[in-house]
Amino acid sequence: MSAPLEGAAFAKTLVAWQKRAGRQYLPWQHTGDAYKVWLSEVMLQQTQVVTVLAYYARFLEAFPTVRDLAAAPDAEVMRLWAGLGYYSRARNLHACAKQVVARFGGHFPRSPEDLESLPGIGLSTAGAIASLAYGVQAPIMDGNVKRVFCRYYGVEGYAEQTPVKKALWQIAENNVPATEPGVYNQALMDLGATCCTPKNPRCEACPVMSSCVALKKGMVAQLPTPKPKKPRPSLYFLALVVRDACGRVALTHQQDKGVWRDLWVPPFLAIEPDDELNSKDCFGVVWSELTTRMECLKGLDQNAVWHHYQALSSQPWLVHELTHRKMHFKAIHMQLKEIDLRFHDLRDVAVPRVVHKLMEHARPDLAEASVSHQNTLDF
Ligand code: ADE
Repeated sequence: MSAPLEGAAFAKTLVAWQKRAGRQYLPWQHTGDAYKVWLSEVMLQQTQVVTVLAYYARFLEAFPTVRDLAAAPDAEVMRLWAGLGYYSRARNLHACAKQVVARFGGHFPRSPEDLESLPGIGLSTAGAIASLAYGVQAPIMDGNVKRVFCRYYGVEGYAEQTPVKKALWQIAENNVPATEPGVYNQALMDLGATCCTPKNPRCEACPVMSSCVALKKGMVAQLPTPKPKKPRPSLYFLALVVRDACGRVALTHQQDKGVWRDLWVPPFLAIEPDDELNSKDCFGVVWSELTTRMECLKGLDQNAVWHHYQALSSQPWLVHELTHRKMHFKAIHMQLKEIDLRFHDLRDVAVPRVVHKLMEHARPDLAEASVSHQNTLDF
């Protein structure tokens, strides 16, 4: 085995490989349009390419330019983002578009420093935009790149530790070439996504296989060193999912801080996993908590809700995993015979993924239950 390639030699091999075997047909590639590159990079920060493709297309159709995005209402941006998760990205995206218009005349700046001064753009995203859209010699460092470097150079220790982080950025800066830095950065991402994958890497297809330290030492499966896992807290919720005769749902706008700020969700309430779900006293509390959030649910037949509430103890938990928490839901599903114009069509507002899951989770027997609105509704 030869020593690992560094600097220009490493870059030259990767650039040639990208042109030969890398991805060429992702819609944001070869556009030379910093707006499109930025949009794709922000979407790709925590989301896989296959998922991003549809969202990217919908976003560009709705907002063909950064000026269109900057001028859009918040709710429309959130609606189009809904389902991608990590919603602070959507808020930063919108804030960033506004700043690009206000501070840079509607043109994304070229320098990584100026790019990094914008909301939602960190060092790596700045490097990606500068190199991919403008051909600026700037390094990137996403999960794929970390994995490639840790294995190829045999870097041990998890990537968030300061010395490891420093070593990786040093390699990134040292290797990024002056010519075709965008193709080189794309090569790193492509190599990580298609060859140097977390599981079952295809080392035989790797252009730098013959000089890979991890492969030589038999450490491919051990690198990058896994980060010690913090236990994820489990949280438990009870939701009230009420549909009207048109299939629209009673949703409230989440205004407080939290993962779903600015999104629309059915009223829900934190509970303890072992809360008694059959006592009338508990039900009284749950009822008032859920309905005070939504005035229009006060007219529900309380007896029917109580009946469904008691059945919850035998209902399995619906589990929804986020990066930092594991959420467990039980839901009371109610179906109205009437139309309620205060309810929302799930396609019209920004709804997190778990709400769609809750809808699918409805047990058919509960979904068929019908209650009548006792109040006269004044729309
Ligand atoms: N992940 C982050 N940026 C990417 C890009 N430009 N192409 C493919 N995957 C990516």
